[in-house]
Amino acid sequence: MKILIVEDDLDILELVCTMVAGIIDVDVLTASSGYEAIEIIEKNSDLSLIMSDFKMNNGGAVEVYKFLLEKKIKVPFGIVSTYGPKDDDIFKNFYTDHPQNFHLMKPFSFNDFEERIERIFPKPKNLVHSDFVRIGADFVKRHALPLQIYIRLSEEKFVMIQDKGHYDGVMLDNYIQRGIEDFFLKREVFEAYILETLQQTQAKMAQAPGGDILFEAIEEVQLVLSRLGVNQETIIYAESVIEEGLKSFRNYSKLCDLLDRILTMNHYVQKHAYLTAYFCVAIAKQNTTLTARDHRRLVMAALFKDICLVETPLLAEIFYIKDKKMQSLSQTQQHKVMIHGQDACYILESIPEFDNITREMVLTHHERPKGNGFPRGKENKNYQALTPYFMIGCQFSHDLIAGERSMKEMIHLAQNYAFEYEFAPFKEAYDHFVLTFNALS
Ligand SMILES: [Fe+2]
Repeated sequence: MKILIVEDDLDILELVCTMVAGIIDVDVLTASSGYEAIEIIEKNSDLSLIMSDFKMNNGGAVEVYKFLLEKKIKVPFGIVSTYGPKDDDIFKNFYTDHPQNFHLMKPFSFNDFEERIERIFPKPKNLVHSDFVRIGADFVKRHALPLQIYIRLSEEKFVMIQDKGHYDGVMLDNYIQRGIEDFFLKREVFEAYILETLQQTQAKMAQAPGGDILFEAIEEVQLVLSRLGVNQETIIYAESVIEEGLKSFRNYSKLCDLLDRILTMNHYVQKHAYLTAYFCVAIAKQNTTLTARDHRRLVMAALFKDICLVETPLLAEIFYIKDKKMQSLSQTQQHKVMIHGQDACYILESIPEFDNITREMVLTHHERPKGNGFPRGKENKNYQALTPYFMIGCQFSHDLIAGERSMKEMIHLAQNYAFEYEFAPFKEAYDHFVLTFNALS
């Protein structure tokens, strides 16, 4: 059996190959771009699976998939990326083109990966053990793994040949010369190693020149969440809440046009609305007393809070009362900024889903815990439970979009939030904020 893995990041490529080798016995072909993959596919008509990153220089998953459709080549296709089938029309029948097609979002765990592979290839019994994962000698040597390494004596019997903390290349070479090709790691050690390596790769991406958190397109929101350490399950959940919200809001003719205006403009209002929705749902999900209905309320508030400023984008960008742009505005403009939450509420009043809890969030999204926000600019400790989550979600997405900060600066910023949100009822939302964004702690 033969499979093809297409990935332009060589660290991830090696990791994926290692994971495959731990699960099944197949020949693995690799390509670092879409067009290179197409050449390989042309020469190998017997592929059992193709897994591809989405965006790469010199052709991505779109080009490879287009080629497969044009040539009517039926082979399971896996997209391994923060982007997915919904990001291009070519994938509109992705899950029915081939029943085994799949999307695995980065960063993924070994378990997620294994599950996808097992759906396509039944595991040969002798390779599988619930406690150990096979790992090739090349990988062990190249990475000088200072981990506990085992060899397999029989189906159930493994013996440790290297303890953790020290890599012994000479000893491993001896085993290789004696014909041992497979080494094993305990499953939990391997899983931790995979996770750590993927996180390091992401940190490297975030620190790379030009890799600062920039928003080139709204589709990158999920990538931003991944880089900030939000787990995949949460991202998928937030996406589903937002999609359901959008579907439901479109049932109200009044909101339908407004939504189209917000979501189709390539501007701060759109970015902030979308990112705030994702952030708020992700943070609020940590609080088990909040409900799916609360998550929907957050999405509604996030999408519509600035609806009265879509025609005046400059005003929409003012988040803090002390923003220099605020001082340069006319009195009428300043007034418009001050009451835009209230104006949004007037528009939303007739919508049955718009209730008091959502209203409070829309009205106070520029207030700050210590009373230095607007329009009231007063400290208030009597907010409803959901409002602090909305406040921190709004602030974080603004700081992220407006600041174009590096990961290091984001960590610093998150630490400053600790002082702002240090007392009730804000402290709980801050604690959940920290739990949500692993990369910031
Ligand atoms: Fe606003």
